[in-house]
Amino acid sequence: MSDLGSVAWPPEPIRTERLVLRGPEARDRAAFIELLASPEVHTYLGGPRPRDALEREVPAVPERWPGSFVVELDGAMIGHILLRRAKEHRRPAAAGKADLGYLFLPRAWGYGYAAEACTAALGWFDGAFPGEPVVLATQTANAASMRLAAKLGFTEVERFHAWDAEQWLGLRPPPPDPQAVRARALTSRHRTAR
Ligand SMILES: CC(C)(COP(=O)(O)OP(=O)(O)OC[C@H]1O[C@@H](n2cnc3c(N)ncnc32)[C@H](O)[C@@H]1OP(=O)(O)O)[C@@H](O)C(=O)NCCC(=O)NCCS
Repeated sequence: MSDLGSVAWPPEPIRTERLVLRGPEARDRAAFIELLASPEVHTYLGGPRPRDALEREVPAVPERWPGSFVVELDGAMIGHILLRRAKEHRRPAAAGKADLGYLFLPRAWGYGYAAEACTAALGWFDGAFPGEPVVLATQTANAASMRLAAKLGFTEVERFHAWDAEQWLGLRPPPPDPQAVRARALTSRHRTAR
Protein backbone atom coordinates (compact mmCIF):
# COMPACT_ATOMS: atom_id res chain seq x y z
CA MET A 1 0.00 0.00 0.00
CA SER A 2 1.16 3.51 -0.65
CA ASP A 3 -0.33 6.91 0.07
CA LEU A 4 -2.94 8.48 -2.18
CA GLY A 5 -0.43 10.54 -4.10
CA SER A 6 -0.64 14.14 -5.11
CA VAL A 7 -3.33 15.88 -3.10
CA ALA A 8 -3.26 18.94 -0.82
CA TRP A 9 -2.51 17.56 2.65
CA PRO A 10 -3.50 17.92 5.41
CA PRO A 11 -6.87 19.43 4.52
CA GLU A 12 -8.58 21.93 6.77
CA PRO A 13 -10.03 19.98 9.72
CA ILE A 14 -13.34 18.38 8.74
CA ARG A 15 -16.10 18.87 11.30
CA THR A 16 -19.05 16.48 11.54
CA GLU A 17 -21.94 16.62 14.01
CA ARG A 18 -19.80 15.19 16.84
CA LEU A 19 -16.26 14.74 15.52
CA VAL A 20 -13.26 16.42 13.93
CA LEU A 21 -11.10 14.72 11.26
CA ARG A 22 -7.60 16.11 10.82
CA GLY A 23 -4.02 15.15 10.08
CA PRO A 24 -2.03 13.47 12.91
CA GLU A 25 -0.09 15.64 15.37
CA ALA A 26 2.51 15.01 18.10
CA ARG A 27 -0.21 15.05 20.79
CA ASP A 28 -1.79 11.91 19.20
CA ARG A 29 1.24 9.67 19.83
CA ALA A 30 -0.07 8.03 23.03
CA ALA A 31 -3.44 7.26 21.40
CA PHE A 32 -1.70 5.74 18.34
CA ILE A 33 0.30 3.47 20.65
CA GLU A 34 -2.88 2.51 22.54
CA LEU A 35 -4.60 1.71 19.23
CA LEU A 36 -1.71 -0.39 17.86
CA ALA A 37 -1.16 -2.25 21.17
CA SER A 38 -4.83 -3.08 21.75
CA PRO A 39 -5.66 -6.81 21.53
CA GLU A 40 -9.38 -6.02 21.00
CA VAL A 41 -8.65 -3.68 18.08
CA HIS A 42 -6.40 -6.32 16.46
CA THR A 43 -8.63 -9.38 16.97
CA TYR A 44 -9.14 -9.60 13.17
CA LEU A 45 -5.98 -7.80 12.11
CA GLY A 46 -3.27 -10.32 12.90
CA GLY A 47 -2.75 -9.40 16.56
CA PRO A 48 -1.42 -6.31 18.37
CA ARG A 49 2.18 -5.02 18.48
CA PRO A 50 4.09 -5.17 21.80
CA ARG A 51 3.74 -1.85 23.62
CA ASP A 52 7.46 -1.51 24.44
CA ALA A 53 8.40 -1.89 20.75
CA LEU A 54 5.79 0.73 19.82
CA GLU A 55 7.13 3.12 22.49
CA ARG A 56 10.53 2.84 20.82
CA GLU A 57 9.42 2.92 17.17
CA VAL A 58 6.42 5.25 16.81
CA PRO A 59 7.75 8.61 15.61
CA ALA A 60 7.04 11.87 17.44
CA VAL A 61 4.37 12.71 14.85
CA PRO A 62 2.86 9.37 13.83
CA GLU A 63 1.30 8.31 10.51
CA ARG A 64 1.58 11.64 8.70
CA TRP A 65 0.76 10.98 5.03
CA PRO A 66 -2.03 11.95 2.59
CA GLY A 67 -5.13 9.93 3.47
CA SER A 68 -4.25 9.37 7.17
CA PHE A 69 -6.99 10.97 9.30
CA VAL A 70 -7.06 11.23 13.07
CA VAL A 71 -10.62 11.20 14.40
CA GLU A 72 -11.09 13.42 17.42
CA LEU A 73 -13.93 13.54 19.94
CA ASP A 74 -13.98 16.37 22.51
CA GLY A 75 -10.34 17.20 21.77
CA ALA A 76 -8.93 13.64 22.07
CA MET A 77 -8.09 11.06 19.41
CA ILE A 78 -10.52 8.11 19.30
CA GLY A 79 -9.66 6.56 15.94
CA HIS A 80 -7.62 6.45 12.78
CA ILE A 81 -8.96 6.33 9.22
CA LEU A 82 -6.62 5.23 6.44
CA LEU A 83 -7.21 5.90 2.77
CA ARG A 84 -4.32 4.39 0.81
CA ARG A 85 -3.71 3.25 -2.72
CA ALA A 86 -3.46 -0.48 -3.24
CA LYS A 87 -0.80 -0.32 -5.98
CA GLU A 88 -0.34 -4.06 -5.89
CA HIS A 89 -3.08 -6.07 -4.25
CA ARG A 90 -3.50 -9.80 -3.87
CA ARG A 91 -6.93 -9.30 -5.52
CA PRO A 92 -6.72 -7.90 -9.07
CA ALA A 93 -10.09 -6.13 -8.61
CA ALA A 94 -8.50 -3.91 -5.94
CA ALA A 95 -5.16 -3.13 -7.59
CA GLY A 96 -4.54 0.58 -8.11
CA LYS A 97 -7.71 1.60 -6.26
CA ALA A 98 -8.01 3.64 -3.08
CA ASP A 99 -8.52 1.39 -0.05
CA LEU A 100 -10.34 2.35 3.18
CA GLY A 101 -9.24 1.13 6.62
CA TYR A 102 -10.52 2.12 10.08
CA LEU A 103 -9.37 1.53 13.65
CA PHE A 104 -11.20 2.93 16.67
CA LEU A 105 -10.40 2.62 20.37
CA PRO A 106 -12.77 0.10 21.98
CA ARG A 107 -14.21 2.73 24.34
CA ALA A 108 -15.49 4.55 21.22
CA TRP A 109 -17.27 1.53 19.69
CA GLY A 110 -21.05 1.32 19.51
CA TYR A 111 -21.86 5.05 19.22
CA GLY A 112 -21.85 5.43 15.45
CA TYR A 113 -18.59 7.43 15.53
CA ALA A 114 -16.84 5.18 12.99
CA ALA A 115 -19.73 5.50 10.53
CA GLU A 116 -19.89 9.29 11.02
CA ALA A 117 -16.13 9.71 10.56
CA CYS A 118 -15.78 7.33 7.59
CA THR A 119 -18.69 9.05 5.81
CA ALA A 120 -16.85 12.37 6.20
CA ALA A 121 -13.52 10.89 5.05
CA LEU A 122 -15.20 9.38 1.97
CA GLY A 123 -16.84 12.75 1.26
CA TRP A 124 -13.38 14.34 1.35
CA PHE A 125 -12.10 11.59 -0.98
CA ASP A 126 -14.96 12.13 -3.46
CA GLY A 127 -14.05 15.82 -3.65
CA ALA A 128 -10.31 15.21 -3.98
CA PHE A 129 -10.54 12.27 -6.43
CA PRO A 130 -13.83 12.68 -8.31
CA GLY A 131 -15.11 9.61 -10.14
CA GLU A 132 -12.86 7.14 -8.27
CA PRO A 133 -14.24 4.07 -6.48
CA VAL A 134 -12.96 2.92 -3.07
CA VAL A 135 -12.30 -0.68 -2.02
CA LEU A 136 -12.24 -2.22 1.43
CA ALA A 137 -11.03 -5.60 2.65
CA THR A 138 -12.08 -7.11 5.96
CA GLN A 139 -12.47 -10.52 7.56
CA THR A 140 -16.02 -11.84 7.23
CA ALA A 141 -15.82 -12.82 10.93
CA ASN A 142 -15.36 -9.12 11.82
CA ALA A 143 -19.08 -8.48 12.21
CA ALA A 144 -18.79 -4.82 13.30
CA SER A 145 -16.56 -4.04 10.33
CA MET A 146 -18.87 -5.88 7.91
CA ARG A 147 -21.87 -3.88 9.22
CA LEU A 148 -19.93 -0.63 8.91
CA ALA A 149 -18.85 -1.44 5.33
CA ALA A 150 -22.48 -2.05 4.34
CA LYS A 151 -23.60 1.21 6.01
CA LEU A 152 -20.95 3.11 4.05
CA GLY A 153 -22.26 1.74 0.73
CA PHE A 154 -19.69 -0.98 0.02
CA THR A 155 -21.01 -4.06 -1.76
CA GLU A 156 -19.33 -7.41 -2.18
CA VAL A 157 -16.91 -7.96 -5.06
CA GLU A 158 -15.66 -11.32 -3.81
CA ARG A 159 -14.68 -13.42 -0.85
CA PHE A 160 -11.26 -15.00 -0.66
CA HIS A 161 -9.05 -16.89 1.75
CA ALA A 162 -5.92 -15.23 3.16
CA TRP A 163 -4.08 -15.01 6.49
CA ASP A 164 -5.91 -18.17 7.65
CA ALA A 165 -9.34 -16.56 7.40
CA GLU A 166 -12.14 -15.75 4.99
CA GLN A 167 -11.76 -12.18 3.68
CA TRP A 168 -14.35 -9.91 2.07
CA LEU A 169 -13.51 -7.44 -0.67
CA GLY A 170 -16.08 -4.66 -1.05
CA LEU A 171 -16.33 -1.75 -3.47
CA ARG A 172 -18.05 1.61 -3.16
CA PRO A 173 -18.67 3.15 -6.58
CA PRO A 174 -18.11 6.89 -6.90
CA PRO A 175 -21.23 8.95 -6.23
CA PRO A 176 -22.93 10.10 -9.43
CA ASP A 177 -21.51 13.32 -10.84
CA PRO A 178 -24.28 15.91 -10.18
CA GLN A 179 -23.65 17.56 -13.56
CA ALA A 180 -24.00 14.25 -15.42
CA VAL A 181 -27.21 13.44 -13.50
CA ARG A 182 -28.65 16.87 -14.41
CA ALA A 183 -27.66 16.41 -18.09
CA ARG A 184 -29.30 12.94 -18.19
CA ALA A 185 -32.51 14.31 -16.62
CA LEU A 186 -32.64 17.13 -19.18
CA THR A 187 -32.08 14.69 -22.08
CA SER A 188 -34.86 12.36 -20.92
CA ARG A 189 -37.25 15.31 -20.35
CA HIS A 190 -36.44 16.50 -23.88
CA ARG A 191 -37.13 13.00 -25.29
CA THR A 192 -40.48 12.75 -23.41
CA ALA A 193 -41.54 16.17 -24.69
CA ARG A 194 -41.03 15.15 -28.35
C1 LIG B 1 -14.84 -1.72 12.85
C2 LIG B 1 -15.14 -0.65 13.91
C3 LIG B 1 -14.50 0.67 13.48
C4 LIG B 1 -16.66 -0.50 14.02
O1 LIG B 1 -16.96 0.41 15.08
P1 LIG B 1 -18.48 0.63 15.53
O2 LIG B 1 -18.48 1.58 16.64
O3 LIG B 1 -19.11 -0.71 15.76
O4 LIG B 1 -19.14 1.21 14.21
P2 LIG B 1 -20.23 2.35 14.00
O5 LIG B 1 -19.67 3.70 14.08
O6 LIG B 1 -20.88 2.00 12.70
O7 LIG B 1 -21.22 2.18 15.21
C5 LIG B 1 -22.15 1.16 15.12
C6 LIG B 1 -23.02 1.02 16.33
O8 LIG B 1 -23.23 2.23 17.03
C7 LIG B 1 -24.61 2.26 17.45
N1 LIG B 1 -24.97 3.66 17.70
C8 LIG B 1 -25.15 4.20 18.94
N2 LIG B 1 -25.41 5.51 18.84
C9 LIG B 1 -25.42 5.82 17.52
C10 LIG B 1 -25.62 7.03 16.80
N3 LIG B 1 -25.87 8.19 17.43
N4 LIG B 1 -25.54 6.98 15.45
C11 LIG B 1 -25.28 5.84 14.80
N5 LIG B 1 -25.07 4.64 15.43
C12 LIG B 1 -25.14 4.64 16.79
C13 LIG B 1 -25.34 1.60 16.32
O9 LIG B 1 -26.56 1.06 16.74
C14 LIG B 1 -24.37 0.54 15.88
O10 LIG B 1 -24.53 -0.69 16.51
P3 LIG B 1 -24.67 -2.04 15.63
O11 LIG B 1 -23.52 -2.06 14.66
O12 LIG B 1 -24.60 -3.10 16.66
O13 LIG B 1 -25.95 -1.93 14.92
C15 LIG B 1 -14.57 -1.07 15.30
O14 LIG B 1 -15.16 -2.28 15.67
C16 LIG B 1 -13.04 -1.24 15.28
O15 LIG B 1 -12.29 -0.27 15.39
N6 LIG B 1 -12.58 -2.51 15.20
C17 LIG B 1 -11.15 -2.81 15.22
C18 LIG B 1 -10.44 -2.44 13.95
C19 LIG B 1 -10.94 -3.25 12.77
O16 LIG B 1 -11.24 -4.43 12.90
N7 LIG B 1 -11.02 -2.62 11.60
C20 LIG B 1 -11.50 -3.27 10.41
C21 LIG B 1 -10.44 -3.53 9.43
S1 LIG B 1 -10.20 -2.21 8.27
